[in-house]
Amino acid sequence: MKSLPKAELHLHLEGAAPPAFIAGLARQKKIDIARVFDERGDYAFDDFPHFLEVYEAATSVLKTPEDYARLVTAVAGELAEQGVVYAETFLSPDFCGGGDVSAWRDYVAAMQEAALAAEAQGGPILRGVVTCIRHFGPDRARRAALCAAETMGDFITGYGIAGNEMMGRPKDFAWSFDLAREAGLGLTAHAGEWGGPVSVREAVEDLRVTRIGHGVRAIEDLALVDRLAEDGIVLEVCPGSNIALGLYPRWDRHPICQLWERGVKVTVSTDDPPFFHTTLSDEYDRLAQAFGWDEEVLAGLNRVAAEAAFCDAPTRERVL
Ligand code: ADE
Ligand code: ZN
Repeated sequence: MKSLPKAELHLHLEGAAPPAFIAGLARQKKIDIARVFDERGDYAFDDFPHFLEVYEAATSVLKTPEDYARLVTAVAGELAEQGVVYAETFLSPDFCGGGDVSAWRDYVAAMQEAALAAEAQGGPILRGVVTCIRHFGPDRARRAALCAAETMGDFITGYGIAGNEMMGRPKDFAWSFDLAREAGLGLTAHAGEWGGPVSVREAVEDLRVTRIGHGVRAIEDLALVDRLAEDGIVLEVCPGSNIALGLYPRWDRHPICQLWERGVKVTVSTDDPPFFHTTLSDEYDRLAQAFGWDEEVLAGLNRVAAEAAFCDAPTRERVL
């Protein structure tokens, strides 16, 4: 599957950092984060809350705009190797300047420059989706939305919410989504990963998003599945992430196939690939094995991703 051109809509930038990259920065800056790695140097965590802790500890070594620029270069290199031609990276002002707009501008400028340089060298087209972190609360989400609105442009094209879905309710974050929508940003929300169908329904109704990160637990309410299909809501499904985090026991038990068969617009992404020991071509391979999906089906998922991408029409044409 490496040679198939692929697009992914759901990739946390820090979550895509190779562990050796993070370990190298930690050494350079003399920050002790040994606890985030196992004896082989891979990221180590027990469950989702622990994953979030490890994620934030690993992220703590990324301090400056230059660190983030180097990360973009490293991630673009990994994506290019996997045949990824377009990726939307989730970026958080909380980790880049603590929500301060002027600091955030410097991070965005550095990341955009690195993204353009990677693209010029034949790498993927990268876009940034500003994500607030749900467990940091609505006030910090407002600051993230202000940062997103202030830097919207060729690189920053979307706004979303990640973090612990079991904290707070979507409507607590409606203000920040309204601001982002008015600024013209595309909208997505993590829902239906740890929360059930109600969480997905609330994200659609209260945040008025066109895309849902994960959304797979909508399968527990078929009326909701039909509504997602009718409304054309796009799911950014990350099967390898769901399996690694114990949401489903095996690939052939993952609901992506049922969602697709019932007419939902599904796409495939990796979420945090080195954390979950996956790549986008691995995901495609596993789906082909589990459900007998051939290249035509997989290319179709890719087209759905290109059509749902938060980018302008000329960029979309290049991805399609
Ligand atoms: N941040 C990084 N990965 C995440 C996930 N799978 N769910 C929620 N927040 C995240
Ligand atoms: Zn995610």
